[in-house]
Amino acid sequence: MAPPILLTGVTGGLGAAILHTLLHAHALPPSTLIATSRSESNRSHFASQDLHFRLADYARPETLLTAFEGIGDLLFMSSSERDNAKRLVEHRNVVEAARAKGVGRVWYVSLALGGFGNGSRAAVMQAHIATEEMLKSSGLDFITLRAGSYSEAFPLFLNWYPSSTTILLPNLMPSVAEGKAAWTSRDELGEGIAALLAKGLAAYPPIIPQTDRNIILLTGPVAEPPSALVEAINRGRGTDIRIELQEPEAWVQAQAKHDEGGKGVAWFQSRLVWLQGLAEGDCEVVDPALEVLLGRRPATGPQAVERLVRAEAGYTWHQNHVGPRK
Ligand SMILES: NC(=O)c1ccc[n+]([C@@H]2O[C@H](COP(=O)([O-])OP(=O)(O)OC[C@H]3O[C@@H](n4cnc5c(N)ncnc54)[C@H](OP(=O)(O)O)[C@@H]3O)[C@@H](O)[C@H]2O)c1
Repeated sequence: MAPPILLTGVTGGLGAAILHTLLHAHALPPSTLIATSRSESNRSHFASQDLHFRLADYARPETLLTAFEGIGDLLFMSSSERDNAKRLVEHRNVVEAARAKGVGRVWYVSLALGGFGNGSRAAVMQAHIATEEMLKSSGLDFITLRAGSYSEAFPLFLNWYPSSTTILLPNLMPSVAEGKAAWTSRDELGEGIAALLAKGLAAYPPIIPQTDRNIILLTGPVAEPPSALVEAINRGRGTDIRIELQEPEAWVQAQAKHDEGGKGVAWFQSRLVWLQGLAEGDCEVVDPALEVLLGRRPATGPQAVERLVRAEAGYTWHQNHVGPRK
């Protein structure tokens, strides 16, 4: 019998979608999977589905050494730690434990900023690039799954709230309003990653990992600007909100002063770098891999956004980054 697949991140949105698809669309027996969490309190949730459960906390290497015992594939969800230095320590712990325990293959969930390249200046991408580098140097068999920017996270990208009457964006060169992104549905990312885990890469000959980081780029089918998302919000909610531009420093100060979620200056400064990347094309590379895995065209960003705001008028997304998360 093949060694089990160990899944990190399954208490979160992407990991839950992956697990659900593995169990229900691919009918993998629960005995072939091991669910994990940093918290022992999640054990019963998985045990009630006949799944094995192990404690795995990237910040506590001893938990990883125990968790990674005797596993075949490891789904390595990137940490949600926002401090890059801490995040890198956590990721190093995972890579070192995987190497120490002879894990068969690591599937690392990275981010698609910069497409297949390493040119993005966004802080969050620096940690992903450094982790990919660790995997490359580790000698482990690994695949990097660079996930497109979540369509579901549009409220964060636009700093939109259900009460918003305008979308304020910084006035950048080139124009952020025209920067295109291949917005990608988190649920569809989950479905696609599950297909890879269930059937293996060999089942999808058109998908060939690229560069020395073995990158598979998982994106929506088309790159579109923020204005397309705003139009989708308006269609879905019957509103008429517009994008307005402000000088970058004034934008940071004004956003931090009035933000409903209480996000501060540092958060918006970091978002400014992300938006500069968007303007410069960080998110614009489209790749057909996700369509191959799904066997259908993935939803575009505007399609996903319109569906979300129609389904839930008060839709929000992790908007309070300084307090408890959704
Ligand atoms: N592509 C994008 O646009 C985008 C947007 C947001 C985030 N992301 C990245 O994608 C990842 C998954 O996204 P998501 O939406 O599923 O996030 P999420 O709902 O916040 O879930 C995060 C998951 O990662 C696990 N996790 C986080 N830090 C961990 C650690 N130190 N040790 C062990 N497990 C840890 C959590 O497990 P427990 O809490 O149960 O331990 C949880 O299951 C995020 O962590 C983030 O790095 C990508």
